[in-house]
Amino acid sequence: MDIREEAETGGLKRTLGPVNLTLLGIGAIIGAGIFVLTGHAAAENAGPAIAVSFILSAIACVFSGLCYAEFASMLPIAGSAYSYAYATLGQFIAWIIGWDLILEYALGSTTVAIGWSGYFVSFMKDLGINPPAAIINPPYNYDAVVNKWVSTGAMFNLPAALLIIFITAILVIGIKESATFNAFIVFVKVAIIVLFVLIGLKFINPGLWHPFVPANKGRFGVFGYSGVLRGAGVIFFAYIGFDAVSTCAQEARNPQKDMPIGILLSLLICTILYVIVALVLTGIVPYYKLNVPAPFAVALDAMNIKWFAPLLKVGAIAGLTSTILVLLLGQSRIFFSMAKDRLLPPWTSKVHPRFKTPYINSIITGVITAIAAALLPIGIVGELVSIGTLLAFVIVCGGVLVLRYTNPEMKRAFKAPGGPVTPILGMISCLYLMTGLPKDTWIRLLVWLVIGFFIYFGYGMRRASLELKRVAGE
Ligand code: ALA
Repeated sequence: MDIREEAETGGLKRTLGPVNLTLLGIGAIIGAGIFVLTGHAAAENAGPAIAVSFILSAIACVFSGLCYAEFASMLPIAGSAYSYAYATLGQFIAWIIGWDLILEYALGSTTVAIGWSGYFVSFMKDLGINPPAAIINPPYNYDAVVNKWVSTGAMFNLPAALLIIFITAILVIGIKESATFNAFIVFVKVAIIVLFVLIGLKFINPGLWHPFVPANKGRFGVFGYSGVLRGAGVIFFAYIGFDAVSTCAQEARNPQKDMPIGILLSLLICTILYVIVALVLTGIVPYYKLNVPAPFAVALDAMNIKWFAPLLKVGAIAGLTSTILVLLLGQSRIFFSMAKDRLLPPWTSKVHPRFKTPYINSIITGVITAIAAALLPIGIVGELVSIGTLLAFVIVCGGVLVLRYTNPEMKRAFKAPGGPVTPILGMISCLYLMTGLPKDTWIRLLVWLVIGFFIYFGYGMRRASLELKRVAGE
């Protein structure tokens, strides 16, 4: 039995309605993107126009979200784009998507952990504890404005790595976030953001919004319109997670109808929140001062609101923790499906005899993501997550388009409106955001894909077809 089915038959019922699904989406979406990367992208790419970047990014998400919902509603199974692709588009496309989703989920959790560490350290400092700089930063940082890697003098980011190990342990033991707990965390996250906005409104200095789009610094992506585009690619990260809703189809009361609602409504709510937060942040603090691990904390300092700072940080710390949990859980489910299909070694999907969790793949993912979180700067990892996820969405939109012609009779409980226009616009808008991302990020993506092809052609394809022959011969 599938680990998901096992988990879901273990008492879980079809209890999730549109409200819970939307909350689940918001729970997965709001994380380091808004709490950390907004500051980074405003300071290095878009200035106050980061608010426009958020809108550009949301447009790409709506088109791909509609396609994702159609894709998910074609199969009555819970899963990720990987499982849907395997069932409808074949093994090779499924492999590319699955390999890409590792960037989204595993590296996504790395990014959020680095963001978490920023707020955690800031909170520690409020308590009078000053951890040594050598153990709370990566050894090198990339400065996009001067286009250079700079040594930080530090060794590693210990809190980020420890958090991942801690969450991995939770996943191995098999504690699953319940819908009620998730709803509570979502409430906390949204409440601190709304409170931040309400308090911040009074302190906005509209002068800081001029120039709204700072002049380009002579290089693509460093301010000017190209900066707004790059900003959109960078903070695309902030929307990642809405696809998590589709993984809960089996727990949804009316998946066919409610999943699209959950995906689109969570996107809409987050977009509104993000645009307002971006305007408030850049209206309180000059945008170039926001490239810090905890930009909200800098804004609170600027407002001199002492009482809210610890509250906000604790809220952010709790909120980011739950995002990592969702991402790492998603990663282990995807690995589990890939190993079951024999695209990865079957021993990686071994289920723990007592905890009934796929502990080996959880531990491997945990160790690798913890090392990445210890050593890498947030901007670099975040961009790689964005580009990888955008590519996965391009393929999903393309797949939905192709399936409209190759499998027109297949039942689609939800069909994205607009005929072929929506998938086409989904592909174009995601590709467009990808073009805004730096060349180095593209190179990293290509290297990642080449490694994936080696594994697929060297191992996965052969093993998977041997397995098919074995099953057929039985
Ligand atoms: N969207 C999630 C975040 O911003 C991944 O942390």
